[in-house]
Amino acid sequence: MYGGRSGEHEVSLASAAAVLANLDRDKYEPVAIRIEKDGRWVLADRPPSAASAADVIEQVRQGNRARGGREVMMQARPGDDTLLVVDRRAGGSDDAAAIVTGLGLDVIFPVLHGPYGEDGTVQGLLELADVAYVGCGVLASAVGMDKAVMKVLFKARGLRIAPWVQVRQPQWTAERDAVIAHIGATLKYPLFVKPANLGSSLGISKVSTPDTLGAAIDLAGVFDPKVVVEHAVKGAREIECAVLGNDTPEASVPGEVIPSGDFYDYTAKYISSGSRIQIPASLPTHIAEDVRQQSLIAFDAIDGAGLARVDFLLSSTNRLFINEINTMPGFTTISMYTQLWAASGVDYSTVIDRLITLAVDRHSGQRRRQTSAS
Ligand SMILES: Nc1ncnc2c1ncn2[C@@H]1O[C@H](COP(=O)(O)OP(=O)(O)O)[C@@H](O)[C@H]1O
Ligand SMILES: [Mg+2]
Repeated sequence: MYGGRSGEHEVSLASAAAVLANLDRDKYEPVAIRIEKDGRWVLADRPPSAASAADVIEQVRQGNRARGGREVMMQARPGDDTLLVVDRRAGGSDDAAAIVTGLGLDVIFPVLHGPYGEDGTVQGLLELADVAYVGCGVLASAVGMDKAVMKVLFKARGLRIAPWVQVRQPQWTAERDAVIAHIGATLKYPLFVKPANLGSSLGISKVSTPDTLGAAIDLAGVFDPKVVVEHAVKGAREIECAVLGNDTPEASVPGEVIPSGDFYDYTAKYISSGSRIQIPASLPTHIAEDVRQQSLIAFDAIDGAGLARVDFLLSSTNRLFINEINTMPGFTTISMYTQLWAASGVDYSTVIDRLITLAVDRHSGQRRRQTSAS
């Protein structure tokens, strides 16, 4: 399942292309479900085939986005015919659509990034449909998406986070100057301003002086009425660690991202080719071990399952700050998540196999759970 309504639609196409290209066809029969930007579900005629997010973004820019496919919908109730293929031709007019066939699915891999895909919404539907699915459940996905809630949980588990404040739209609209003054009194510049729920650095600004703070909060507010404003970690090095597993998860070797720009913004992530990654990251052993241990604590703190990528900021004085957890990280063959596992001895296809097995295990465990009093 890929695409989705979020601003990370294109990134998901690239992730899905890699998953489909690396699926063992002796074990799995893939069904490609594309979620269009307007939210319609389509049984794709042609699976995505891009090698990277940059390719997809370029394809879309040139207007040749994959379009074909029959409309499908998912039943939010347990049953064998999870997926319904809708054929409007049979019905003729819109509201007389004909349900043609029901398709049973054994397990779903929701390779979706951002809101409406990585945030627990799709996971909730899959729970109702009682289908096994790869990755984190409803709660972990929702918490993993919301930077404000995530910070509260991480702090409660003793992880170090950069000082931050939260700004809600009504408060911002009603008392803009007071909010700016409060931030000036509470935090030190430079600051990062972020939509609470998003990814791919969309809507994020680095702010060095009070006069540009307002515009940054306005920008982030376009994407989410809840905005996070936090200290910029001085001389931050970006250290990332991959987690794989359910109740006894493992952490990969840590890796480092060296962004091409001032920080790892959308361009540095997907457009410019100047960003580099180094695996393993060159770190003192005790810090590398801290990164791995804290990644497992963060995964447990959100009640993670399957996979996640945990991102840290290491200050110029070697203080380790946890930045965020991504419950469905970029998943192309050149993405950090898969490369971290490759460097830890688990190749791309094996990662997919493990994720599918973990999904089926978790689902059968849930089925064994008693849901009624008697
Ligand atoms: N507190 C911070 N200090 C320094 N750099 C930061 C900070 N927060 C974010 N950044 C920079 O912005 C990038 C995107 O922020 P992040 O919180 O990871 O959002 P996203 O979920 O969109 O990836 C980070 O990879 C890093 O380059
Ligand atoms: Mg990030």
